[in-house]
Amino acid sequence: MSVIAIYPGSFDPLTNGHVDIIQRGAHLFDRIVVAMLVNMDKSPLFTVAERVDLAREVFRDHANVEVDTFDGLLVDYAERRGAGVIMRGLRAISDFEYEMQMALMNRHLNPDVETVFMMPAEPYTYVSSRLVKEVVALGGSVHGLVPAIVERRLREKKLARETLRA
Ligand SMILES: Nc1ncnc2c1ncn2[C@@H]1O[C@H](COP(=O)(O)OP(=O)(O)OP(=O)(O)O)[C@@H](O)[C@H]1O
Ligand SMILES: [Mg+2]
Repeated sequence: MSVIAIYPGSFDPLTNGHVDIIQRGAHLFDRIVVAMLVNMDKSPLFTVAERVDLAREVFRDHANVEVDTFDGLLVDYAERRGAGVIMRGLRAISDFEYEMQMALMNRHLNPDVETVFMMPAEPYTYVSSRLVKEVVALGGSVHGLVPAIVERRLREKKLARETLRA
């Protein structure tokens, strides 16, 4: 029986922390579905299409990593995709409380879907999409913290915004 794992998130944009978790998952499970939440509260820097393209580009050579979008209840999406696992990353104790709530709520909604947590390599434990965007907006470097193509797109976005403002 092949095990499909969903890795849900906003990925605005994909960071090397996300990449680390996806690679670990790809060793454990038969298939990883990186699932981008379409309707999120946060107003995103990258459109869904841009976020999907970036992740597809980064994982183009990984046959068992797929990138998709979803809306609505995560457990319903998991069921539609035939996935028995939800994958999440834990960076610090501060992630724990929210992640535990979500995992237990999802278990309440569908006991057949198991949430699995993984820790990234140490250099990525302080990396979040929010912080990456903040650093770039203020002119700092995120080299090594995001894939090269993401670094390029972030720089293009920043230039585009500055041009618009000028
Ligand atoms: N550096 C990282 N190491 C391990 N897991 C991570 C890392 N960054 C995010 N994750 C995990 O990936 C999943 C999806 O997270 P999400 O898309 O919210 O990314 P994020 O970096 O936390 O973005 P934001 O700053 O916008 O909240 C969550 O389980 C989150 O804990
Ligand atoms: Mg987050």
